[in-house]
Amino acid sequence: MTGLLLIEDVVTEYRTGGRTVRALDGASLAVGAGETVGIVGESGSGKSTLGLLAGRLLPRTATCPRGRVLVDGQPVLELADDKIAALRRERLAFVPQDPIGALNPTLRIGRQLRLALRGTGADPAALLDQVRLGPHVLRLYPHQISGGMAQRVAVAMAMARKPALLVADEPTAALDSQVREEILTLLFTLAAEHGTTVLWLSHDLGGVGRRCERVAVMYGGRIVEEGPTADVLAAPRHPYTEALLAADPARVKDGTRLHTIAGTPPVLAGEPPGCVFAARCGAREDDCEAVRPQTRTAGGRTLLCHHPVTAHPEETAR
Ligand SMILES: Nc1ncnc2c1ncn2[C@@H]1O[C@H](COP(=O)(O)OP(=O)(O)O)[C@@H](O)[C@H]1O
Ligand code: SF4
Ligand SMILES: [Mg+2]
Repeated sequence: MTGLLLIEDVVTEYRTGGRTVRALDGASLAVGAGETVGIVGESGSGKSTLGLLAGRLLPRTATCPRGRVLVDGQPVLELADDKIAALRRERLAFVPQDPIGALNPTLRIGRQLRLALRGTGADPAALLDQVRLGPHVLRLYPHQISGGMAQRVAVAMAMARKPALLVADEPTAALDSQVREEILTLLFTLAAEHGTTVLWLSHDLGGVGRRCERVAVMYGGRIVEEGPTADVLAAPRHPYTEALLAADPARVKDGTRLHTIAGTPPVLAGEPPGCVFAARCGAREDDCEAVRPQTRTAGGRTLLCHHPVTAHPEETAR
């Protein structure tokens, strides 16, 4: 497995109105070529910030005082503007949450597709056909199509250059459930055909379970548990992963009570002294609030917790 994306101990802070919000607090993630990885966690856990980091697409109010990001071994945070522009154009693609907002309202779909395809010689109608849209859509403006059609167009544009890495940030949050499944199937099918690595930022644990080989669970700007999806979902080891699963309506059997996670995710101003989940954690012990958990790895899983839900015999500190 070659390393396509490496995020190493990144801190990202937003400065707004004299206030600093720490969105990433030492986030680390390694993704190999061709993998499908789901990033899950409640709103505010840092998923979008992490996704934008891959293309250095953070707003100007954001700074990264610590850590590094590599795509194809290239240091994304330090690249000259022409180099990062080339990397974005040739290797990366993003599918946003709001497809209509991401399209240019003043240009017909056909014109936008031709711009996306510039230099490839590819046919816009063929691209639309890949996402099951007819050629008549080429003549329409974004306001003339539905949200589901707009998201198909956004997927077509993202995949036009067969990117190495596709970051899809809750791409179906605004769509109804049937359309959602269709779009996700298209996206993952095209990615598999092109060998594109997918980073799917999502609230949908079940969907990640069905479509991603690996899952990374984010909380408080760090990845608190990461590993093969089937293992993590079947036997979560971080108390936060366990709580997220217990709060997932799709996984709760009829007649059983849905557990919500009491409290709200933190908004960090700097580095907290101990575990950032301590205030909400049922497994908390005395050391949790005082000592910051460090990454441990065991059995293909990484974990940030002093007292995992189940112990692993091979566990080692890293
Ligand atoms: N542009 C921004 N300006 C200020 N704070 C931001 C901005 N974007 C995100 N944040 C804050 O950073 C934290 C992480 O947000 P985000 O990366 O959007 O997480 P998620 O995608 O998991 O909801 C949150 O506390 C959020 O309010
Ligand atoms: S370190 Fe402690 S507070 Fe944090 S998740 Fe683990 S048990 Fe809970
Ligand atoms: Mg987000």
